[in-house]
Amino acid sequence: MNPDRRPLIAANWKMHKTLAEAVSFVESIQKQTGPLGDREVLIAPPFTSLKEVGDTLKEGGYSLGAQNCHWEQKGAFTGEISTVMLKEMGCAYVLVGHSERRQLFGETDETVRLKTAAVIAAGMVPVVCVGEVLGERERGETFDVVGRQVEEAFTGLSAEQMAGVVIAYEPVWAIGTGKTATAGQAQEVHGYIRARISSLFNKTIENNVRILYGGSVKPSNIDVLMAEPDIDGALVGGASLEVASFTSLIEFNV
Ligand code: PGA
Repeated sequence: MNPDRRPLIAANWKMHKTLAEAVSFVESIQKQTGPLGDREVLIAPPFTSLKEVGDTLKEGGYSLGAQNCHWEQKGAFTGEISTVMLKEMGCAYVLVGHSERRQLFGETDETVRLKTAAVIAAGMVPVVCVGEVLGERERGETFDVVGRQVEEAFTGLSAEQMAGVVIAYEPVWAIGTGKTATAGQAQEVHGYIRARISSLFNKTIENNVRILYGGSVKPSNIDVLMAEPDIDGALVGGASLEVASFTSLIEFNV
């Protein structure tokens, strides 16, 4: 295994769990899983639980992440949260450009680019989400759409800034639908993204960038997904909300 591509299992809780539920979940998960070894687990709770969840994540290999941020450090942006504030809460990662943000809250390739740069500037790692909708896949536009999203997100970054960035490929038709992309479909796009990163940056970044798969990942399909050469982890919604299913995901077999 490439040590730079430590497997990452990320929980995106979306708008789920009160503070009490969040803390109890992370206590249980740490009790039920043994030492993570070469794996890393990321928990991205709602903003309201960040501090306490971070304080409760004591075991090695667990990291805290936010689900969104604003690109300005401060200002008159009612309801927004800046990267400086997230860093202060102990976040190491921030999800950027999740398809729900793009579809429901008007995020564009341009705001994704601004947010990505802001997260890096604040010393955190962006998990930049890309993925095609069903119609785009059916029209054979997957590579064009994903390629454009990748290119626009990382325009203007130096190779040094790009090192460490995480990409999540999440076909929108597979999110929350129970329809997972087959391991082969996911691998094909992951391989394409990796090659695209090489042409935008260089071979070292291509080899070292972690690319997660997301979209109805569950205990029954994690092993086949993780067996693919270009899949370095999973971004999980629904199956990250229950202790039993998330524990099995963390304990995937290679
Ligand atoms: P899902 O969500 O696992 O419920 O499909 C994944 C995501 O939205 O990141």
